[in-house]
Amino acid sequence: MILEIADVLTPDDLRQCRVALEAADWQDGRRTAGDVAASAKNNQQLADDDPLTARLGQLVLARLSGNDRFVAAALPLKVLPPRFNRYADSGHYADHVDGAVFSVPGTPHRVRSDLSATLFLSDPDEYDGGELVVASETGPYRVKLPAGHMVVYPGNTVHHVTAVTRGARIAAFFWIQSLVREGERRAMLLGLDESIRAVRTALPDDPSVTQLIGLYHNLLRHWSDT
Ligand code: NI
Repeated sequence: MILEIADVLTPDDLRQCRVALEAADWQDGRRTAGDVAASAKNNQQLADDDPLTARLGQLVLARLSGNDRFVAAALPLKVLPPRFNRYADSGHYADHVDGAVFSVPGTPHRVRSDLSATLFLSDPDEYDGGELVVASETGPYRVKLPAGHMVVYPGNTVHHVTAVTRGARIAAFFWIQSLVREGERRAMLLGLDESIRAVRTALPDDPSVTQLIGLYHNLLRHWSDT
């Protein structure tokens, strides 16, 4: 399931991120790619140990934890601290699959990449190209969202970013280990969650709402790994 989530950041958050990132110390993104990915990758990235990475990452994580739609869809167990990248001057990232497991910098912890996320920090009219293209069962899924919006897609998919031929595309990207590893189960839980919200609105006092909520939690208890 590929999911777009609007307004993860507020206009004020965005201004804060953009001002800080305009003056950032961007590094060659190939430094952080594996051997195979390095030849495919042509972008810039903030260093993991850059204080700005941690500061802006904390802001993104705080907004994510308060985002009901993200929590309901991703059922996050662990979120890798967000990183930041910049594509300009024909920068692109050819077809690749992200690594399965990432170390959390400076800690002994690891995160399995059940889901990948890109949070757009530039508006589409600021650059040409720079589409994220994710292979899906129904064909290539092309995405280029307004600043502050995010796309979440399965971590096991082949994807690429098309060359940025004008302007610059700045984004945050990160990986999520979900409580529920299987995407089909997550999709069913999200569908159930949405149905419960609709039924609860239509029939607030109906006892079946309590039963449905119980069913949701029992399924989550059954399927989740912690
Ligand atoms: Ni990738």
